[in-house]
Amino acid sequence: MPRISRDNSPTEIREILFKNPIIERNIKVQMESSMETNKLKTAALRGSFATGLGALVATLGSAVGLGNIWKFPYLTGANGGAAFIIIYTLSTLLVGLPVMIAEIMMGRKARANAIGTMQKLSPSKKQPWWIIGAMGALAAFMIMAFYSEVAGWVLAYIFKSLSGQILSTSPEVTSQAFVNLVSDPWQSLFWQWLVLAVVCLILVQGVSKGIEATTKRLIPLLFILLVIVDIRSLTLPGAGEGLRFLFTPDFSKITAVAVLTALGLAFFKLSAGMGTMVTYGSYWPDDQNIPLNTVRIMFSDLFVSILAGLAIFPAVFAFGFEAAAGPSLLFITIPAVFASMPFGNIVMVLFFILAAVAATGAMISLVEVPIAFLNEQFKLSRAKSAVLTTILIALVGSTAALSNSSLADFQLFGMNMFDLYDFVSSNILLPLGGLLVVIFVGWFWGDRKVKAALSNEGTLKNQAIIAAYTVIVKFISPVLLLVVMLRGLNLLPF
Ligand code: TRP
Repeated sequence: MPRISRDNSPTEIREILFKNPIIERNIKVQMESSMETNKLKTAALRGSFATGLGALVATLGSAVGLGNIWKFPYLTGANGGAAFIIIYTLSTLLVGLPVMIAEIMMGRKARANAIGTMQKLSPSKKQPWWIIGAMGALAAFMIMAFYSEVAGWVLAYIFKSLSGQILSTSPEVTSQAFVNLVSDPWQSLFWQWLVLAVVCLILVQGVSKGIEATTKRLIPLLFILLVIVDIRSLTLPGAGEGLRFLFTPDFSKITAVAVLTALGLAFFKLSAGMGTMVTYGSYWPDDQNIPLNTVRIMFSDLFVSILAGLAIFPAVFAFGFEAAAGPSLLFITIPAVFASMPFGNIVMVLFFILAAVAATGAMISLVEVPIAFLNEQFKLSRAKSAVLTTILIALVGSTAALSNSSLADFQLFGMNMFDLYDFVSSNILLPLGGLLVVIFVGWFWGDRKVKAALSNEGTLKNQAIIAAYTVIVKFISPVLLLVVMLRGLNLLPF
């Protein structure tokens, strides 16, 4: 080993020192420990779900929402029942779930917000994968714009059903009550902004104390309420007709647009295609089994949708109402249905409470996407990020809230703003975001990294599942997505 003498230049001295094995080891140990502390520091700053179960429940809380209680029933009703449910389930398995797995995996690997994650994981700075994250943030605003409005109606209906104002067996009366609500600009804004304020208050508390703690309380409550309403609905005389509608398929009702709608619903339901799952994945503990737990979440979510269908359709058919009423099914048909049954007034209050409960977990996950982004990329405090995001959503959302009153005549592509936000986000942005995600994971990120991420760096013995996943993500999901999207948007010649 060379000795250090006075004649050595500083560079030479450094070189000699670095060659010394003891010093080299010391330097390495120090570097590693400072990297560890850095990791711990960022983890502490970022926040994460405290437990595996908490991560599971919070993520389920994002998936379960008005998608199950409002969208799934009205779309199923409008698209012919069982056949639509089958196509929706297939879309979930072949496209929605693979995208959800991909997002959670990427988020957990990068431990960053939706845009930051894509920047970190991109194989080269030149490839603009961050656009997926940016599209997601845009989608978050669009979805929240109409979602918070529907949640506002739900909240209004809790109070209105408590006071008995909307209880009538005649759809004319209940539809007038609904029109009165949505055509009143101040009422619409009031309920929407109230909803946004509640969501903001939860999110200010942080990932574990806000999101995780809230969803842990809400999800069990949701199941209990759903089962109560189900028992009431299924014990009505004539409930069988509704069961037949839900479980006997008639494929003649399925059109290209219905398939695109089912695909859009699959994304919407699993909160996939826009970075919500990336953001939540970045809070998942390292030891969670991603494929297994996402499958659990997917089936629980499907189960909630079926429970909601069982609460609604037997009652709708038992009293001879129209299942294909569209988005107003929940607010016009359902109150009339409940008014027709014994104890209907109580069941209706419970029903709208459960809808509000479901909506809350979903909305906090949507709003968390821009909050995490502002918080990390711009180093704004959590409270400031939450307030700023909420104000922006309130502004965009107002155009949806007023789309049945002050802005009723303002239409684009034949849709008012409410319908436009819904259509563009569910049928274009989410599938497009999902398509880019599977292309990234299947073709650009690298199979080795996918394998390492999904097996928790080799600790899980799930090679077969990962192999199947790789094939689905490379070939099946992207092709299906592309064909269904182009066909549904009328861009294919057949
Ligand atoms: N999945 C929720 C529902 O079914 C809605 C939702 C929450 C969502 N986060 C999302 C939809 C992100 C699309 C993207 O109600």
